[in-house]
Amino acid sequence: MSKAKRYLVTSALPYANGPLHIGHLAGAYLPADIYVRTLRLLGEDVVYVCGSDEHGAAITIRAKMDGVSPQDVVDKYDKLIKETFEKVGVSFDIYHRTSSHLHHETAQEFFRDLYQKGEFIEQRSEQYYDESAQQFLADRYITGTCPKCQHEEAYGDQCENCGSTLSPTELINPKSKMSGETPVLKETTHWYLPLDKYEEWLRPWIEEGVLNGEKLHDPYQWKSHVLGQCKSWIDGGLQPRAMTRDLTWGVDVPQEINGSEGKKLYVWLDAPIGYISATKQWAKDNGKDWKPYWQDKNTDLIHFIGKDNIVFHCVIFPVILKANGNYILPKNVPANQFLNLEGRKISTSKNWAIWVHEYVEDFKDDPKMIDVLRYYMIKIMPENKDSEFTWKGFQEANNSELVGTFANYINRVVVLTNKYYNGIIPTINQGLEITCSEDENETSSFQAEMNAVAKHAQNIKKFIYQFDFRSALRELMSIADLGNKLLQNNAPWSLIKTDEEKTKVVMNTAAQVVAALSIAVQPFLPKTSNRLRDLLNLPHVVDGDLEKLLNDLSKHEFLIQEGHQINKPTHLFSNLSDDWVAEQVQKLEDSQAEAGIQYEAIKETATFDDFQKMDFRTGVILEAEKIKKAKKLLKLTVDLGFEQRTIVSGIAEFYQAEEIIGKEVVVVANLAPRKLRGVESQGMILMAENDKGELVFVSPQSGFGGGFVVR
Ligand code: MF3
Ligand code: ZN
Repeated sequence: MSKAKRYLVTSALPYANGPLHIGHLAGAYLPADIYVRTLRLLGEDVVYVCGSDEHGAAITIRAKMDGVSPQDVVDKYDKLIKETFEKVGVSFDIYHRTSSHLHHETAQEFFRDLYQKGEFIEQRSEQYYDESAQQFLADRYITGTCPKCQHEEAYGDQCENCGSTLSPTELINPKSKMSGETPVLKETTHWYLPLDKYEEWLRPWIEEGVLNGEKLHDPYQWKSHVLGQCKSWIDGGLQPRAMTRDLTWGVDVPQEINGSEGKKLYVWLDAPIGYISATKQWAKDNGKDWKPYWQDKNTDLIHFIGKDNIVFHCVIFPVILKANGNYILPKNVPANQFLNLEGRKISTSKNWAIWVHEYVEDFKDDPKMIDVLRYYMIKIMPENKDSEFTWKGFQEANNSELVGTFANYINRVVVLTNKYYNGIIPTINQGLEITCSEDENETSSFQAEMNAVAKHAQNIKKFIYQFDFRSALRELMSIADLGNKLLQNNAPWSLIKTDEEKTKVVMNTAAQVVAALSIAVQPFLPKTSNRLRDLLNLPHVVDGDLEKLLNDLSKHEFLIQEGHQINKPTHLFSNLSDDWVAEQVQKLEDSQAEAGIQYEAIKETATFDDFQKMDFRTGVILEAEKIKKAKKLLKLTVDLGFEQRTIVSGIAEFYQAEEIIGKEVVVVANLAPRKLRGVESQGMILMAENDKGELVFVSPQSGFGGGFVVR
C-alpha cells in the first residue's frame, strides 16, 4: 500500500424517514463539506461518503404512521434528502443507501466475520413484547420515563432530553408505541458484543490516543464535550450490547448461522458499516481501491456527527472495527451540539423547524440565498455548545457582513476597475508605495498587502484543520476587511486626480485581494466562488487551488494578471428588509399552527377509587431556588396551610426562581416522597404543557391560600 496520506470523511447517514432540517445541516453536513472542500483545494487525497440510513425502527414507525410500506418510506425520503444535499452544495463523493445489495452483503460479511472469530456471546434474555401487536419491540418503539432525568418521553435506547444511552428495561413506566399498552417481558436469544471486554484498549485509546503502544491521535485535538461523553459512558460501566434484533425490516442475520431466522442486524451495527459499503461503491464507480481508505494507517478517518451519535461513533463502531482487526480507527470525531430555533428546541413533531428542502424551494429563483444560509449557519455553528438560529440574526449577518463587508468591497473594485481602466487590470510599478491596510501610518507596498492576505489565508487552513469553522469564516471576512481598508486608506477616487500611477498600484492590489477571496471563499460559499470567478472572468476554482494561492501569495505572484479583462459589475448579495424577516417568522409560526396542537393520548382508565386515592391541595410557593447543576430543577418550599413542604419541580427552564414566589398552585400532597439530586421531594406541583411545549401552572383562583382540597 502506498505511503501517501489520505482522508476518509463521513457525515452521519440520515434516517430516510423524513426531510432534513437546518439542525441536521449545521450538525453533521455543513462542517464536513467545508472540511472536505478545503482538503480538496489543498490537493489532498480525500473521499467524502454519506448515504441514507434505511433500517431501524425510525423507518418502520414512519411507515406505520403514514400507512405505507417501509420501502415506500425510504424510497421517498432517500430521493428528497439526496436532492436537498445537492441543492445546498454538500459535495459528497457518493451518497449511498443502506438498502442496497452491496450494503447488505458488506454488513453480513462483517457479522459473519465477528461470529466466526467468536467475538459474540449468545444470550437468552427477556425483552419487551407487545402482546396485542404480537411482536418484540425495537428500543425506539418503547417510551417511558428516563431513570436519569425523569423526562417522560425517553426512548428505549436513548433519552433525548439528557442524552443518556438507555436500555428499554431501565425505563420507568414503559409503553409500547405500537399499541400504547404496557409491554410484557418475553424470552428471546440474541448475539451480544461484550463491550466490557474491550475496555482495556478502549479507554487508553480514547483518553490518550494510544493503541498497542502507538500514538494514534492527540486527545487534546478532540472536542472536550466529545471526550466527556465518552469518558462518562466508559466510567458508567460498559456492558454487552445486543447486535441483533427481532424485526421484520433490516439486514438479515446470515442464514447459515444457527437461530438466524427472524433476526436482523441491530441498526447501529448495520448503519456505520454503511460508510464502508458507500466507499466500496465509490471505488467501483471510479476504478479505485477502497481498502487503503479504511485499512491503511496513512488514512485519517474523520466522522462528522451530531452529539446524539457520539457513543456509537466513539465506542461501539470502533469496537466493531477493532474486533474485525483489519480496520483503522477514527482519528477524530468532531461532533457538534444542537441548534435551537427562535428560542425553542427544533422539534419535528411540533413542526418547529426550517426544512431545508422548503427553504431551497422558496428561494429557487434567487440562488445566492443558498450561500446566505450557509454563511449564517457557519457563523452560528454549534461547535462546542448549543446555539441559536433567528431570522433577525440571519438578516444581520447578510446585511452587515455579506453585503456590507464582502460584496461591497468586491463591487467597489469591479466598478472602479471598469470606470478607470475599462475593466482591464492595470500594469503597475510595484516599487511605488501605497498605504497598506494593516497599519495606516506605515507606508507600504503591494508585497506587504499580499503578506497580510497570506496571513489570513494561512489561518483559514489552520482553523479548518482544527475543526474551528467559525474562526475560519472570520479569517475569510478579515481578508475582505483588509480590502476595504486598502480602499479607504488610499481613496483611489481622489488619488486618481493627482497620481495616476499610484492609483494603478492601489487598484491592481485591490483586484488581487478580490482574486484571493474568490478562492478562499469556495469551501464556505461554493456558489459565490463561482459567481465571483465569473465576474473576474477567471476559471472556476479546482482542486489544489488553495495550495496554489498560499504559494502565490508567499511569492507575491499575481493572482489575476496585468492586462486581464474582467466583467461588468453584478451584485453578489443584497439587503434583506425587516418585512422580509417578519415574513419568515410568520411562515414558521403558521406551519407550526397547521401542524395542529399535539394532544397526548389519554392514559389507561382509572377507577373512581384510584382518583379518590390522590390528595390534591392548594398551596402557596414561599421560597424557590435553583438546584445546582440540574438544568431543570427548582427546589420549592410550599405552604399547604397545615404544613410546609419541600418540593422539587422540573420547571427551571420555564420559570425563574424569583418570579414564582407567592404563586398559588395545586399540589399532589400524598405522593410517596422521592429523592431528586439528593433533595427529598414531598409532593408534586400540577403543571400543564401549553402549545409551545412550555410548562405552565395549573392555578387555583387567587385568594385561596394553602391547604384546601381540590375536587
Ligand atoms: N441515522 C442516524 C441518525 O440520524 C445516524 C446514523 S450514523 C451511522 O441519528 F453511522 F450509523 F451511519
Ligand atoms: Zn433523561
